[in-house]
Amino acid sequence: MGRVFVAGSINMDVVAMADRHPKVGETVAGRQVHYFPGGKGANQAVAAAKLGAPSTLIGRLGMDVFGQQLRQFLTAQGVELALVKDTPDVHTGTAVITIADADNTIVVVPGANARVSADDVAVPLLAKGDVAVSQFEIPQPTIIAFFKRARAAGATTILNPAPATLCGPELLDLVDILILNETELGLLAQTELHDTDEPARFVEAARRLPAGPDRIICVTLGKRGVLALVGDEPSLIAGRAVKAVDTTGAGDCFVGALAAQLANGKAIRDALEYANAAASICVQRMGAAPSMPTAAEVASVLQA
Ligand code: RIB
Ligand code: NA
Repeated sequence: MGRVFVAGSINMDVVAMADRHPKVGETVAGRQVHYFPGGKGANQAVAAAKLGAPSTLIGRLGMDVFGQQLRQFLTAQGVELALVKDTPDVHTGTAVITIADADNTIVVVPGANARVSADDVAVPLLAKGDVAVSQFEIPQPTIIAFFKRARAAGATTILNPAPATLCGPELLDLVDILILNETELGLLAQTELHDTDEPARFVEAARRLPAGPDRIICVTLGKRGVLALVGDEPSLIAGRAVKAVDTTGAGDCFVGALAAQLANGKAIRDALEYANAAASICVQRMGAAPSMPTAAEVASVLQA
């Protein structure tokens, strides 16, 4: 069995629940406030760990209360944290999130995440059969260094280019599996996409990305499911009809679940179905990292 290595962000999510989102210049009264562990890297590492893959997180925390709380939480979730460094003179990554009608807006302040360096990812541990995962809440040069190492070790690389940020072929060429939503795809393919577009539009856009013949591209389409291009062959994995209460971290759940399945030696088609089912559980619960499902929960959804 392989390991999942996630190089990525660790945030405290400060979540305000309201009846609607404020307009610019407006104040609305909220109903509740929560402090949920989050950050795309941490969320993905937690998903992988809870779904039965050995999961190592590479990242940075500030030396503050949020940092201590996050370290405790992640340890309890079974994530290996030996490569998460406490960093002086900077705050722990923090996301300020507003949720209304299950939709969110997020302002993320990187803090310690911006300090995750190429040295931090120079880990000699990666081996063949492992899966290396990253996202755009840590610096891109760090991700490039990480994926070069992963490739040299024979590991599979997964990039989730979120939040949407431009990147060059130097990084994309190092990616085996790209997992992105329609906004991120639109930016990288330099075309305007809407979540109501026909799947054929997404296929066309995905084909514009610089890619080798073996590249797998997964476009996560929210409740519509996931469009996957495996060896240029498109297939749509339908979304499951569930009542969403908080979609924060659903994409991360998909990424972490897929990585765990691949580390466990599963075939890509089965891994995609599994990750789609996992994400459908995640949206039915509050919070990002705390909403990641267990393997038993995913199994029961797949049997239903
Ligand atoms: O993908 C969801 C995550 O994005 C949240 O947990 C928040 O921390 C932001 O980084
Ligand atoms: Na959730």
